[in-house]
Amino acid sequence: MRDFPLIFERSVPGRRGFGLPESDVPAQPLEELVPPQALRRRPPALPEVSELDVVRHYTRLSHRNFSIDEGFYPLGSCTMKYNPKLHEELARLPGFARLHPYTPEELAQGALQLLWELGEELRELAGMDAVTFQPAAGAHGELVGLLVIRAYFASRGEKRTRVIVPDSAHGTNPATAAMVGYEVVTVRSDARGNLDLAALEQYLDERTAALMLTNPNTLGLFEEQVDRISERVHAVGAQMYLDGANFNAMVGITRPGDQGFDVMHMNLHKTFSTPHGGGGPGAGVVAVKSHLEPFLPVPVVVRDGDRYRLDFDRPQSVGRVRAFYGNFANLVRAYAYLRTLGAEGLRAVAEHAVLHANYLRVRLAPYYEIPYQRICKHEFVASGVRQKRRDGVTTRDIAKRLLDYGFHAPTVYFPLIVEEAIMIEPTETESLQTLDAFVDAMVAIDRECREDPEKVRTAPHTTAVGRLDEVRAARQLDLRWRPA
Ligand SMILES: Cc1ncc(COP(=O)(O)O)c(C=O)c1O
Repeated sequence: MRDFPLIFERSVPGRRGFGLPESDVPAQPLEELVPPQALRRRPPALPEVSELDVVRHYTRLSHRNFSIDEGFYPLGSCTMKYNPKLHEELARLPGFARLHPYTPEELAQGALQLLWELGEELRELAGMDAVTFQPAAGAHGELVGLLVIRAYFASRGEKRTRVIVPDSAHGTNPATAAMVGYEVVTVRSDARGNLDLAALEQYLDERTAALMLTNPNTLGLFEEQVDRISERVHAVGAQMYLDGANFNAMVGITRPGDQGFDVMHMNLHKTFSTPHGGGGPGAGVVAVKSHLEPFLPVPVVVRDGDRYRLDFDRPQSVGRVRAFYGNFANLVRAYAYLRTLGAEGLRAVAEHAVLHANYLRVRLAPYYEIPYQRICKHEFVASGVRQKRRDGVTTRDIAKRLLDYGFHAPTVYFPLIVEEAIMIEPTETESLQTLDAFVDAMVAIDRECREDPEKVRTAPHTTAVGRLDEVRAARQLDLRWRPA
């Protein structure tokens, strides 16, 4: 099972995946249908295989991968939570799945109504005034949020050049600010893991366009002084941007709009249980306060009486940021999630996410260093520094060993402000038994570090492939198989 041939190597000349009787409808010659210069000279080098070969090959391949449907996936920051199958069914309803994006508005009223209602619910949960569904992911949402802020200042004739980003922010924040053309200023965190207010003050002036705050931050901690921070930032006329990717820690309990944020993105794939999709086919909905609404990307879904339409007539808009109207199928899933949970259920999402993270934090504390000893939100950061100093075993080794125990590794070496960081997010969807099994595995690995460190250093031992050259894989990406 560890090694098996490529689909190309299974190829047998003449083998087919299906058999149909000869057609009794005379075929039109290809040359009459396709211009000769566009016709292939040779057939493509495709594998010739049976249906059974194909099904077995790809099913087997899928088993070599780890997935949320297979096991616990405590990936801090990235939030790998279970996607209910009911939502998949709803998103595949023919009325949604087969709707052409250019269907006239009068024939797509149901889909537009769904978008409008979803927008109303998200707006209400965020405490904001307007939303856009256009961004395809969280980082794309950040880009849209900052473009909106830039357009807002431009409309007022203000030229602001800086964006302030705490060192506890998600890595995409400074990258986004730089992409939009801002100078990025990094502000340190204090000993409790909060943004250092005194350090922030030094940089607040009329050059500042925005503060990009991740809240809860990448330490999994809620910014305790968020109201005072908002006050200071607004005092110099700058905007409060919330990286609300971690909204699952507060949804239904507190609203970013009430905390003073002017614009936020939320990752539907993190809080509202839609598939994540590697940063691509997700949905990074952006919500804004009313003064920023005119700058949102087009189109915006609006309601006129009992009819819904797409509004393109927005002269101050930053324009289009994506084809069509957002990742519609994911928006259907998020809508289903909101509707099945209701207000009570949503609050329970945040409560359980926080409870689960704190449960793991406290149970692991006797075995692993926990640098910030305070109540966390939906995730927390442990450290493998004790194992490194005591046993010469690194966080990477511990993460690899977890795979042998049947768990996906947590996020490691992030955030950068914690040495040998192990960032754990259990999510609200896991049971007590699963959380306990994870603790047992982590405790067993700690014991192995002391008693048999070589076993941990050389892990994983049970996966299809062992340690890969991750740097080379990232720098020399080569996904193509070339026939001999
Ligand atoms: C706090 C935070 N911000 C932004 C992002 C970027 O989101 P995406 O992966 O959807 O681009 C993530 C992703 O995990 C995140 O955790």
